[in-house]
Amino acid sequence: MKNIPKDFLWGASTSAYQVEGAWDADGKGPSVQDVKSGGFIAGLNIKDITDFKVAADHYNHWKEDVALMAEMGFKSYRFSINWTRIYPTGVETTPNEKGIKFYHDLIDELIKNKIEPLVTIHHFDLPNYLEEQGGWNNKELAVEAYVKYATTLFNEYKTKVKYWQTINEQNMVIMFGHLLGKRMTGVDKGEESYQMFHNMNIAQAKAILALRTIDKDAKIGPAPNISLVYPETSKPEDVLAAHNANLIRNWIYIDPFVKGEYDQILLNFWKENNYNIQMTSEEMDLFKKAKIDFIAFNYYSSMTVKAPTKDQDFVVGDQQMGFNLEGMFQSAKNSNLEKTEYGWEVDPIGFRLTARALHDRYNLPIVITENGLGAKDVLTDDGKIHDDYRIDYLRKHIEQIPDIINDGVKLFGYNPWSAIDLVSTHQGISKRYGFVYVNRDEFDLKDMKRYRKDSFYWYKKVISSNGTDLD
Ligand code: BG6
Repeated sequence: MKNIPKDFLWGASTSAYQVEGAWDADGKGPSVQDVKSGGFIAGLNIKDITDFKVAADHYNHWKEDVALMAEMGFKSYRFSINWTRIYPTGVETTPNEKGIKFYHDLIDELIKNKIEPLVTIHHFDLPNYLEEQGGWNNKELAVEAYVKYATTLFNEYKTKVKYWQTINEQNMVIMFGHLLGKRMTGVDKGEESYQMFHNMNIAQAKAILALRTIDKDAKIGPAPNISLVYPETSKPEDVLAAHNANLIRNWIYIDPFVKGEYDQILLNFWKENNYNIQMTSEEMDLFKKAKIDFIAFNYYSSMTVKAPTKDQDFVVGDQQMGFNLEGMFQSAKNSNLEKTEYGWEVDPIGFRLTARALHDRYNLPIVITENGLGAKDVLTDDGKIHDDYRIDYLRKHIEQIPDIINDGVKLFGYNPWSAIDLVSTHQGISKRYGFVYVNRDEFDLKDMKRYRKDSFYWYKKVISSNGTDLD
């Protein structure tokens, strides 16, 4: 058995708009997340849950939050930069200095505490101005704005940041954009969704190439949400559906940056549906050059599908609950798996299988940038949070890590979701993930005091024993 390497990056993860708050402070512009109002997502009236304006107020508590990460012994911290703190509308020609400084201070503090910053350039918070101009479907504008923004970050934080992630969960943005504050409404938008997919790929390719000229030692990769897709039965039709779903849900988001092209099955799918994706040979040539160094991936559960039927009877929930694609597959329940209270299937062996599948297809270093359990935690009168359910979930996944490494997968870090409590993408602050409890409710901001959960002490022990003490 191979052991977990000594320099394994144990840490945790957050994203800017879910944790920072200070939504209009120091020159920050509004992102698509700041202007969400009304409507239903995943069956919830968003008027019943908090917005992202104050979130966990990390913008005003970052030093204290980094101190808590250091106390847990973090070797890495995966976070994102808020695009509209740097470019308030996306189209300015010079960046907002106060935004630039905020991340310098944060990164310096992490480095001082020997915590490796794993930085996501863009995590669901497109500048709202860009969205109003067509968002990612406005190819010229969005690509130019993203590349300018990424280049600014590379120039500012070069030598300090060694690991960049281009875009968080591009696959979820394309498939579940309606949950994430975009006007896109998932794969049913067909051609429009795939045009957006291609435009985002060009932006990422250009950013990858830009980094090569700015910081030769830095590494860059995408951060998709990857779930291995199982067939519901051994019927060949179901296996074929699972193959289709793996491709459409997972692989097409990585292929261009490793294989240098789009998969033939994807091209056939576009053709069969008369999707006319505008792409030039110069654009496709970018993928021949823009290669990634590693894959960051978010894993919450596996997915199960069966052969598509006419009525597509599976009801689509949120980003982790599966979806249907006419002619390709339809989601199915996996009766072998338990579910969280939010209906997400729990599959630690699926974690190992997903890591193996990524390794088989791409043979690149891999780092986990999300994995975790959302739950309604309770703060007791004596200031404790007994989140044994979270410990149990994380333990079952961490137990797989030595096996994953022994399988030959080049796994170099584990950064679960989330370092501290933050606002869930669409279920508010009540659905908590953190090792640290942030004292606020959905609408009562209380005192924002930080409390160490039971999982905080447990994870500290996991890290100090390099993953051997999971009790
Ligand atoms: C991932 C996202 O999809 O899952 C995060 O990258 C998100 O932003 C996380 O918070 C958990 O999902 P949710 O919907 O419970 O917040």
